[in-house]
Amino acid sequence: MKHLVSMNDLSREQILDILDNAEAFASGEEWQPKNKMFATNLFFEPSTRTKTSFEMAERKLGIEVIPFETGSCSLLKGETLYDTIKTLEAIGVNTAVIRHGEEAYYQSFIDQLNIQLINAGDGCGQHPTQSLLDLFTIKQEFGGFNGLKVAIIGDLSHSRVAKSNHKALSALGAEVLYSGPPQWFDSNQLNSNFCEMDNAVEIADVVMLLRIQHERHESTSFMTTEEYHSKYGLTIEREKRMKKDSIIMHPAPVNRNVEIADCLVESEKSRIFKQMENGVFTRMAVLKSILEQ
Ligand code: CP
Repeated sequence: MKHLVSMNDLSREQILDILDNAEAFASGEEWQPKNKMFATNLFFEPSTRTKTSFEMAERKLGIEVIPFETGSCSLLKGETLYDTIKTLEAIGVNTAVIRHGEEAYYQSFIDQLNIQLINAGDGCGQHPTQSLLDLFTIKQEFGGFNGLKVAIIGDLSHSRVAKSNHKALSALGAEVLYSGPPQWFDSNQLNSNFCEMDNAVEIADVVMLLRIQHERHESTSFMTTEEYHSKYGLTIEREKRMKKDSIIMHPAPVNRNVEIADCLVESEKSRIFKQMENGVFTRMAVLKSILEQ
């Protein structure tokens, strides 16, 4: 694997290999690249989890992290993203982790890169390392994916998490259901397994909630946050109807009392902070796969 930009580029075997490595890192295994390696994290959209957990993963692997400030770089003087990445390549950076607001920002130049690129989120496109940490969390919980029902609920059309997860989960044997406002569901992007919210929470083994991505909406919301919570949120009442061994996931950041009731964020069923912990091990596994090439 030279780059990781989309879950669609990974085979089932490659996914399982990364999950095995993530498990090994979670169990305390240590690995470092043979030669000194350098990474830079370029985040052109806000991030708390992905940016810091990449940096943590890089440091744990002994990779030197070269700081990059998007607010004071030469892109602001008109340099292209391609020239920026080629500059990092020229000065000796091995891996660039990039989050960008434009979907498939890498497509026109990825074949010209020697530096290794990890996509940390592209517009409404893909978020492969979030998907891998979600898969790792599910595997850790259930031991595998066969026959599991995963309900992905919320702002589906703007969600790179939903798009990255849907093919991978299906390839691994899980059944993926979708719910939320029907106007945010596009059956061309995802499969057509759409079901009502009350039904979804009752039959799912994994209830995966998504944040409303206001920053990607062209018009203001068509309902209040209270209405959204009541119609499509995981309320205290809906949580009581979830299956006994089911779990709650959310890529975060969470809007408490919108997609999920405040008191459920850290409830017994919630794996939301576990996902964040697993993000470090999963990103260590991704970096290992990339740097071993
Ligand atoms: N889940 C996720 O991508 O979070 P951040 O936007 O904080 O990185």
